[in-house]
Amino acid sequence: MGEELTARLLRFIEKSPSSFHVVESICRELTGYTLLSEGEPWSLQPGGRYYVKRSGSALMAFRIPEEPWRGFLLAASHSDSPTFSLKENAQLAGPENYLRLNVEGYGGMLCASWLDRPLSVAGRVLVRRGGAVEARLVNVDRDLLLIPSVAIHMNREANKGYAYDLKTDLTPLYGLEGAPSLCGILAERAGAAEEDLLSADLSLYVRERGRVWGAAEEFVSAPKIDDLQCVFGTLQGFLAAKERASVPVYCVFDNEEVGSGSKQGAEGTFLRDVLSRICAAFGKELPAAAANSFLVSADNAHAVHPNHPEYADATHRPRLNGGVVIKRSASQRYTTDGLSSAVFAELCRRAGVPVQHFANRSDLPGGSTLGNLALRQVSLNAVDIGLAQLAMHSAYETAGAHDTAYLVRAMEAFYSAKLTIEGDRVVLE
Ligand code: CO
Repeated sequence: MGEELTARLLRFIEKSPSSFHVVESICRELTGYTLLSEGEPWSLQPGGRYYVKRSGSALMAFRIPEEPWRGFLLAASHSDSPTFSLKENAQLAGPENYLRLNVEGYGGMLCASWLDRPLSVAGRVLVRRGGAVEARLVNVDRDLLLIPSVAIHMNREANKGYAYDLKTDLTPLYGLEGAPSLCGILAERAGAAEEDLLSADLSLYVRERGRVWGAAEEFVSAPKIDDLQCVFGTLQGFLAAKERASVPVYCVFDNEEVGSGSKQGAEGTFLRDVLSRICAAFGKELPAAAANSFLVSADNAHAVHPNHPEYADATHRPRLNGGVVIKRSASQRYTTDGLSSAVFAELCRRAGVPVQHFANRSDLPGGSTLGNLALRQVSLNAVDIGLAQLAMHSAYETAGAHDTAYLVRAMEAFYSAKLTIEGDRVVLE
């Protein structure tokens, strides 16, 4: 099931080596949608399809139904993944005749997974053009860098656990003395003169391609499965849905891996700004529309680990290819409550999608995500979901090959639903 979808997911990931490229990949699928500018007045029409970007790395798309509507059905995921960002003065000469790049960690990565594999650089560069400063997406798109391990002969203790020092152990090797400058390579890729390259937002990415594997091809491994599997899956559900009495909204925010606190992050005003402008265009007030709305915060969940099943909770043990995972925590780091869990599980049941539940083992704090931060700007009914995966925040992650199809089916059902929310009573049609 879902072989073709998984192949499309892998192509989507391959075309999306930075959060800017993720948004570009999404835009390619939004055919028939009108791009709105945040700096211009919006004229929205029933039956219209629209999208708006912020900072090139966050996006919201929505459709206005023909019939009267009361609220929003939203899904939100994140465009970023743990990586290494290039510093402004990135070129580092020495020791000896080596050239390296000066990077800093972005998010909480599993360091070891970044070593001994070809890497490259992608993101956006800012170029001078006439009197303007312009952004251009750049993907060097060749094997350019590698972070070499220290040989076992030089550190016999290496297999007994290792504390990585970001400033020394994870500095990528770029070339040898006399090699062409990185600025030159970037300028050429951007189609600009080197002296017109003014600044950049660039990060490293893993060159290894995604693949389907296992005895029955039941697994899929690729970079950035967290959270591009949800970015892609919620997008396909959004595009396939037939809306009725709500505005379907597809959201992708940046900077989740570093706390979401930027203007393009879930804790910024992007969500509130867009929803309040849609309300204003139809003479509605956001608080009333929000009370009639439902948000699905989609970010991947932990499957039981085959070698370390002890990290999973006693009664919450998500399996690969076991369907959509509803995530819940008493600390409210996930938005799920009893009501939103019940509503989403019921929607999945009607769509024939299996549901699993995730909770952290009670002595482990677990991770956080973007849903509860988005609710600080616009508070509404919400559920946190994801797909089960292994090796979260490795440079090469693993998930179930059939689960993407479950997410697409669940999201199509969600975006097509007619939910009438009356306090803690929700009518599903
Ligand atoms: Co995530």
